[in-house]
Amino acid sequence: MCGIVGYIGNKTDIKIGLEALKRLEYRGYDSAGMAVYNPEQKEVSAVKAVGKIVNLEKKLAKVDLKGVPFLFYTRWATHGGVTKLNCHPHTDCKKNIWLVHNGIIENYQTLKEKLIQRGHKFISETDTEVLPHLIEHYFQGNLEEAVRKALRFVRGTYALAIISKEDPEKLVLARNSAPLLIGLGEKEYLAASDPSAVITHTKKVIYLDDGEVAVLTPSQFFIQDLNQHRIQKEVNEIDWDLEEAQKSGYPHFMLKEIMEQPESINNSLRGRLIIDSGLAKLGGIEMVQDKLKNIKKVNIVACGTSYYAGLVGEYMLEEYAGIPTEIDLASEFRYRKPILDKKTANLFISQSGETADSLAALKEVKRKEGLTLGIVNVVGSSIARETEAGVYNHAGPEIGVASTKAFTSQLSILALLTLFLGRQREMSLVMGQRIAKELSKIPELVKKVLDEPMQVKALAEKYKKCDHFLFIGRKYNYPVALEGALKLKEISYIHAEGYGAGEMKHGPIALIDKKFPTLAICPLDSVYEKMISNIQEIKARGGPIIALTTENNKDIKNMVEDVIYVPKTLEMLTPILSVIPLQLFAYYMGVLRGCDVDKPRNLAKSVTVE
Ligand code: G6P
Repeated sequence: MCGIVGYIGNKTDIKIGLEALKRLEYRGYDSAGMAVYNPEQKEVSAVKAVGKIVNLEKKLAKVDLKGVPFLFYTRWATHGGVTKLNCHPHTDCKKNIWLVHNGIIENYQTLKEKLIQRGHKFISETDTEVLPHLIEHYFQGNLEEAVRKALRFVRGTYALAIISKEDPEKLVLARNSAPLLIGLGEKEYLAASDPSAVITHTKKVIYLDDGEVAVLTPSQFFIQDLNQHRIQKEVNEIDWDLEEAQKSGYPHFMLKEIMEQPESINNSLRGRLIIDSGLAKLGGIEMVQDKLKNIKKVNIVACGTSYYAGLVGEYMLEEYAGIPTEIDLASEFRYRKPILDKKTANLFISQSGETADSLAALKEVKRKEGLTLGIVNVVGSSIARETEAGVYNHAGPEIGVASTKAFTSQLSILALLTLFLGRQREMSLVMGQRIAKELSKIPELVKKVLDEPMQVKALAEKYKKCDHFLFIGRKYNYPVALEGALKLKEISYIHAEGYGAGEMKHGPIALIDKKFPTLAICPLDSVYEKMISNIQEIKARGGPIIALTTENNKDIKNMVEDVIYVPKTLEMLTPILSVIPLQLFAYYMGVLRGCDVDKPRNLAKSVTVE
């Protein structure tokens, strides 16, 4: 995720762009940049700064830049570390075409090789840089024509704002699976990733759709598809205030992040699944693939929600990749004496990439020369830099303190890793194909679960006065029970415990009475019958039960108070679906009890102290 802004109109004050960009900072904040066309010098000037937008602002205060059109950009790194060179706007060899991009160009490597053969010089590690060079290749004086021709060869996602010093009266926009809109002002247009950037300027917007290219001049605009057919678009009136707009209309970041999981999981999977060959392509670990072929054990180390994702990973890796796997809390791992050898891979899972305990454990493993891998969301973070190899989540920034979309992204990456390691070993082609195919359907199934939030809200209404909650599950959904309980306690401050359902009889069942509800996660899987026995035991003691099960499971209705249904998928992937109603449940419970769901008391997003 990144934020982009483009302006063309009768003003030359770049502050318009800077102010708009500031409101997109939640979309990414590791570096920021801008470019502006100066009509007197007939040149484009660019300024970039590593860090938050304020660093760019400080730099801009020292130079007197004016002009039009201009572009602004805030980065959430995907390809290439956090450096000035990797920050947008990117340009071509002649510094003619300048653009900002939100999205991922999947075939950038192939395009880059071809462009290098044709003599183009690249200076960054990004996927984006191929775009200005490709546009340069087709440029013959008309910017939109070159953009259209270039985009025919581009695979991936993009929201683009583009200017050219040789066709300077235009701002060209293009969109494919990444948000982009045009704010319509008086003799001016302000394009941006979302309405929050334009809302103080204008409330009239046009949302671009996939495959559309917009050409804007100071006085008019038109929108076409890639085949040059004109498209008439509806003008929308924004009726939100600024704060709501930053959350895309959602009342909280947590709800926004829960709702964007189909997209974030898609981003985690994009370009990484080869269904026909039943393989996972994970560029970030390819350089250690020979070492990985020989490993006999995996140690997973993480904290909080990432630890629960790791627990699911343990089940996946053992069952499908056939590799003995151990998982530990980073705060424990760092102080015990783990037995490490050359045949053990140590996998660190961290959304922020900065968690102090995980980082300390990682450093300890490195000191002992163990192989270290990462699953990290924040590009260029400490854990990402310190690990020998790894996989980025590409889930976009997570602002809500309680992790939601990072968790489902971590599970998706762990499934990819299982496929990767499994196919290096005994996993058959057919099994590989099956996992890859089911995994590719997950974003669509997640969307289906999210289509029914009101059902979960109604449950929260019913149970909001409860002071205690138990979450139980088995096998793949045991960690989901732990995560469901964690979400509820951190967001609504209700006392909640997560348990392996088989452990109930060893203590927790003593707590059960009619005021102590249990949420039982029991999809139709290999341990379903066992779960039913545990549900009966709770029922016999008068405990109310909410069952979360697979759609079409009608039998359970007569056994429990309430049922939540999720679609059917492969057993190892069920946690990605079953956790979603639990996230929503925690969210609505928190809201109904008047809690600050985005910033729960006593918690922090990135725990950089021990
Ligand atoms: C904090 C956050 C959690 C997160 C945990 C681990 O407690 O509030 O949401 O799961 O840290 O963070 P990491 O960034 O390493 O995944």
